[in-house]
Amino acid sequence: MNRRGARVYRGTPRNLASLARLLRAGEVVGVPTETVYGLAADAFAARACRKIFRAKGRPLSDPLIVHLASARDLDTVAQPNAAARRLAAAFWPGPLTLVLPKQPAVPGEVTAGLPSVAVRVPAHALFRRLIRLAGRPLAAPSANPFGYVSPTTAEHVRQGLGRRIGHILDGGASRVGLESTIVDLRDPNHPRLLRPGGVGRRELEKVLRQKLAGPAPRAARRSAQVAPGQLSRHYSPRTPTVVRAQLRPADAACSSPREAWLFLRRPAKLRGPHIFWLDERGDLEAAARRLFAVLRRIDAGGFRKIHAEFAPGGGLAEAINDRLRRAASAL
Ligand code: TXA
Ligand code: MG
Repeated sequence: MNRRGARVYRGTPRNLASLARLLRAGEVVGVPTETVYGLAADAFAARACRKIFRAKGRPLSDPLIVHLASARDLDTVAQPNAAARRLAAAFWPGPLTLVLPKQPAVPGEVTAGLPSVAVRVPAHALFRRLIRLAGRPLAAPSANPFGYVSPTTAEHVRQGLGRRIGHILDGGASRVGLESTIVDLRDPNHPRLLRPGGVGRRELEKVLRQKLAGPAPRAARRSAQVAPGQLSRHYSPRTPTVVRAQLRPADAACSSPREAWLFLRRPAKLRGPHIFWLDERGDLEAAARRLFAVLRRIDAGGFRKIHAEFAPGGGLAEAINDRLRRAASAL
């Protein structure tokens, strides 16, 4: 517990140096990434990583993602194959996480005891500078209390974890706004998409020159432990949420003002404190960037229900729809 609340740091060279020192000493730090904010610790220090789970209230069975400053360091934590090297060359630094056999140096706390590790090189320059200064890979899940919507600003991190952690690096609003795409490459001949994100399925398949399997069915996933942590209710607002293919403005117009309506694009002639939209024109990149912030705003508004609609198409739409589905799924 931290009575005074977390300190928020700007990314000055002096602040980065002190945060790197804290990380080397085994502290946890809230960090900006281009996807969502993370809660980082020394990936080679089991004790430091246990602090992440404690601060988030996250079960130890849910493994962390290891962040590197450069793809050149991949061999220090994982055992990459040719497919992994191709994806790394094409998409790193960026919102893509690869699951690979792990190196013995990565403690079981990071991988939830699995023989595999999830790893990525983030595109946020400030975060990469911090990893470099810390001089070691940093393990980090999203910096939210377990089960809640991921944070896309330093202020979101402060609101959710400010009394449980001491330090947050402010790197502005996350550019992508959704968690990274996760690809399981343990078997390079059968790559599997575990979580859609900022890098689309098509782009990945083009580089891999083969189709990606979807995530294993949920029951099979649980027993085979392919992706612990892929719990369906994982990015959820507190307000009960229903998602439909498309919302009708006419339904919203005659709805109770205690129910929130979340459109992809701004609905013409519809106004009110219960009407929300992700982007003026429904641009998918802008919609992804704003989704979590808007869900948080609706949650703070005391509505009894959220009506949301799916985004059309593949690519980023697949990631947006995945998060909406998770927001809507009951425990
Ligand atoms: O964009 C992101 O991925 C952000 C930023 C901070 O990098 N991180 C993030 O982590 O969203 P989060 O909270 O989703 O937790 C990491 C997830 C786990 O829940 C799990 O699904 C997956 O990564 N994961 C980690 N290690 C894994 C492994 N060995 N096998 C399969 N999935 C794994
Ligand atoms: Mg998370």
